[in-house]
Amino acid sequence: MDLGTVSQIIEPLASTTLELSQMPQIEPNAPVLRIIGKAPLSGHVPISGAKNSILALMAGTLLSSEGCRIRNVPNLADVERMSDILETLGVKISRTDEVLDLDTSNLTTNSAPYELVSKMRASFFALGSLLARLGSAKMPLPGGCAIGARPVELHVRGLQALGADVQIEHGIVIAHAKSRNGRLQGAKIYLDCPSVGATETLMMAATLAEGQTIIENAAQEPEVIDLADLCIAMGAQIHGAGTNTIIIDGVDRLHFADFTAIPDRIEAATFMVAAAITRSTLSMSPVVPAHLTAAISKLQDIGVTVQIDAPDKITVIGGDRYRAVDIETLPYPGFPTDMQAQFMALLTICEGNGVVTETVFENRLQHVAELNRMGANIRLKNNVAVVTGVPQLSGAPVMATDLRASAALVIAGLAADGETKVMGLHHLDRGYDRIEEKLRNVGAKLYRTIETVNA
Ligand code: UD1
Repeated sequence: MDLGTVSQIIEPLASTTLELSQMPQIEPNAPVLRIIGKAPLSGHVPISGAKNSILALMAGTLLSSEGCRIRNVPNLADVERMSDILETLGVKISRTDEVLDLDTSNLTTNSAPYELVSKMRASFFALGSLLARLGSAKMPLPGGCAIGARPVELHVRGLQALGADVQIEHGIVIAHAKSRNGRLQGAKIYLDCPSVGATETLMMAATLAEGQTIIENAAQEPEVIDLADLCIAMGAQIHGAGTNTIIIDGVDRLHFADFTAIPDRIEAATFMVAAAITRSTLSMSPVVPAHLTAAISKLQDIGVTVQIDAPDKITVIGGDRYRAVDIETLPYPGFPTDMQAQFMALLTICEGNGVVTETVFENRLQHVAELNRMGANIRLKNNVAVVTGVPQLSGAPVMATDLRASAALVIAGLAADGETKVMGLHHLDRGYDRIEEKLRNVGAKLYRTIETVNA
């Protein structure tokens, strides 16, 4: 897009009452998303494949000595990064539209590069599949993350239980199977908390182990089921994925599979909130309504109408008046931490007080300051935010601090009076497939541009 044209389209800019010194600084030449609020939305939004599934599925393909085809792969920076990591391990990858072909027949190294793993936590989950396939693996610790410390000791302890020697040297996890034949050994593993990543790492590792593995207090997220389904399609013996006890009977090898990832429930929930906050009607498909139970229930409590039109399609109909609700994030099937920021954006315009309690990640409320910048009334103490509804948000320059926070700010911008400039777009690009195009197609007014001066 011609940036000169963009500036012309969106002038004149809305004024803001904030002092320059309070405003987020625009990084030179970094893209900025400019949103003109209050445009009514209507129409249909196509939902892409689930980011969190795809990343785990890509790690899972390392288990197959014949390669894999994965369908419904979204266009995301995280998918590109994961592809780069797999390619350094010797995987040959080709992509046509939403189909990813991965030739995993010849892995050339057991060692993943620090520069890439440190940028994306999910790549660490490949430790389990790499170790199971090769009998040894070296994986840099994932970098710290804006939303919390996110340790990996559950992954490490679980792999040790499966008969791996695991050492951490100079920030690199070095693991090898202790048995003479280089295979992991089935074991009973209890997870202190139902970590999604640890469940996935250990489930993958156990598919090629000798004997039976039982993972107790396992994560029950749909993405765990999707990964189990891929492994089963490759010949693994897995029972109970989606419950808190997963039983894996190890097999000697896994083969080719052609697999389609589930739709992204977090992306769908984000568009559901976009419809609600703009008091618009949007339909979306494909979705799995059962994966959205927590989001649908909260929207209905707020006063939003949600219709399930078909087994894979829902319509969200916004209303005139919304009442505040309390939200507490929990492991699935509780309310997802990945939807907390977007729902907080909606709560800012609900009548009354809503209490948002973040229990999964200790530092995942950084969007509070940015929403307040847009006129929201949110008080924060530790992991609890009290959101008092205001009649109207007002557009402002804001900084995205993590992936879901960036979506929340975009959503808030859609409903705000005047113009919102969202910065820190690399977060948004990690996890939302063509979000601007999808929003523009249903009537939103937003443009990405490059600016070289402060807002
Ligand atoms: C996954 C999702 C992320 C989502 C999160 C929770 C992917 C790629 N990412 O992240 O979008 O927000 O689940 O639904 O699927 N923990 C430990 N020790 C460990 C591992 C985790 O204490 O060894 C803690 C974490 O610090 C956190 C909690 O467990 O407090 C849940 O984290 P976890 O489920 O592991 O999240 P991820 O798998 O990293």
